[in-house]
Amino acid sequence: MCGIVGYAGGGGAREVLLRGLKSLEYRGYDSAGLALCGDRLHLLKDAGRVADLEVRIEHMTEAGTGIGHTRWATHGVPSQINAHPHTDCTRKVAVIHNGIIENFMELKSELMKGGHKFKSDTDTEVIPHMIEEELNKQQGMMDAFRKVVNKLEGSYAILAIIEGKNEIYFARKHSPLVIGLGRGENFLASDVIAFLPHTRCAVFVKDGDIGWVNSEKIYVEADGNKVERPFTNIEWSAEDAMKGGYPHFMLKEIYEQPDAVANTLLDARIEQLATELGHLKELEIVAAGTSYHAGLAFMYASDLKTRLLVSSEFRALYKGGDVLAISQSGETADTLQAVRQVRAVNGGKVFGLVNVNGSTLTRLADQTVYTHAGPEIGVAATKTFTSQLAVLYGIDAELKGKKIPTFDIESALRLNGEMKKLSIDMSRRQGIFYIGRGPSSVTAREGALKMKELAYIQAEAYEGGELKHGPLALIEEGVPVVAVCPNDIHRKKMIGSIEEVKARGGVPVVFGEAGDKELKAISDRFYGLPATDPFYSPLTYVVPLQLLAYHTAVLLGWDPDKPRNLAKSVTVE
Ligand code: AGP
Repeated sequence: MCGIVGYAGGGGAREVLLRGLKSLEYRGYDSAGLALCGDRLHLLKDAGRVADLEVRIEHMTEAGTGIGHTRWATHGVPSQINAHPHTDCTRKVAVIHNGIIENFMELKSELMKGGHKFKSDTDTEVIPHMIEEELNKQQGMMDAFRKVVNKLEGSYAILAIIEGKNEIYFARKHSPLVIGLGRGENFLASDVIAFLPHTRCAVFVKDGDIGWVNSEKIYVEADGNKVERPFTNIEWSAEDAMKGGYPHFMLKEIYEQPDAVANTLLDARIEQLATELGHLKELEIVAAGTSYHAGLAFMYASDLKTRLLVSSEFRALYKGGDVLAISQSGETADTLQAVRQVRAVNGGKVFGLVNVNGSTLTRLADQTVYTHAGPEIGVAATKTFTSQLAVLYGIDAELKGKKIPTFDIESALRLNGEMKKLSIDMSRRQGIFYIGRGPSSVTAREGALKMKELAYIQAEAYEGGELKHGPLALIEEGVPVVAVCPNDIHRKKMIGSIEEVKARGGVPVVFGEAGDKELKAISDRFYGLPATDPFYSPLTYVVPLQLLAYHTAVLLGWDPDKPRNLAKSVTVE
């Protein structure tokens, strides 16, 4: 999704913005740009990478105030013209925006009737023209900005600057925005990572807030009245967000899983949430992508009466009841919309399971439990998935009066070398099947999702029992089938599924408990994992599948941290 960053200080805006934009690259983007505020505005923007701007930025004038943007196209193709910032007709006002202005067509035709000339196909460009229109009515920038924002429908985090003024005007509705407070300098960004090297003191802007920052002050208002928003001390260090010697963030994050899971299990809020959930008759779970898989894994483990809905389908299927919303980012628009739907129909209590502290979901939920995975920069969810599982299995263990489990992720990580070797074979395949039964069907789904999003290989997951209901028709000589087969009650039937695959010439790649002679005998591609609680096996069994997808992507020459067409935080519906 789009990333935004703003800087108001004594000087050095160019470098601060460039560095901020680089740290936001993980959100996914197709173009980038920035505007610096001097006696006139200086603009640089283009389709492509932030690195492409870097070589051209040296020719820009230095300034103390500016705004920068990474764009993920929604309205208008990725191009120089459609890249942000956008300006008004006089080129005195520059605006960047994350979100979607739903009523932009009406606003645009009104402005065009008034003689405004549009350069781009974006929804965002209406904003600077509307500001220009208001400024023509002889009022100050804040008054003009407020009037414009009040006319916008949709979702937005907006930053605006005007030539000759060292202030950044901002507004937020349903898109993330946070202020970083420094000494003699202040920051605005979609994510704290953009200003962590400068300050850890943050103010999370709320939905409906409008205001401005300069190098010394911040001003926030809600419903036309000045408000004070609390400061938060961000615990993540800038180093946490760096690669730490690994070639990619994703590999680093895979290796951080033992710590992420252990830290997460220390949180006392797991016990509190378990107590709350224990009183419920039923629970609806809502999530997207990998977080959805975490919800599914919980359904397999739990005795609670649960129903799981994909966030984007929630509106159509929700019939009321208490809801657990799972989201790494806490900013996924589909999931937030689902939660707003619960609120709109007074459906029940909302519990959040979130990684990013201060994110929108944490503010919408009645009660939040956190994963303590730290920042996840790779677009593919890895350590946040296993940390979500840790919370959910922790809750399950509490409810069943079992000991909180321990997970031997280190042993699973020792398969790294073998996964690297196996990736040579996988990288040559057109398609791969993943199968599992019971909780392992979730591991299979997550393994397949990782393979398709990173290596761009068609990877399909099925419950082992479903093979014979259709997919078996696609199994022929040499088709690889990754079979997740821990030592649980489904093992015997899984062996049956593996035999079905072999009988048709398929190549089973089997993951089972180390020392399982029978599995070893049916496949020369057998990989042993430590013994686990059978209900909680996805937490360790997913690790080699993450590694396999990672190595396959790298071997094929793809960047595993920034898969094409995808964004870390999907903030549009
Ligand atoms: C997983 O690798 C993907 N990046 C994606 O499916 C992700 O899990 C999904 O977009 C949900 O994100 P969230 O957990 O931040 O809500």
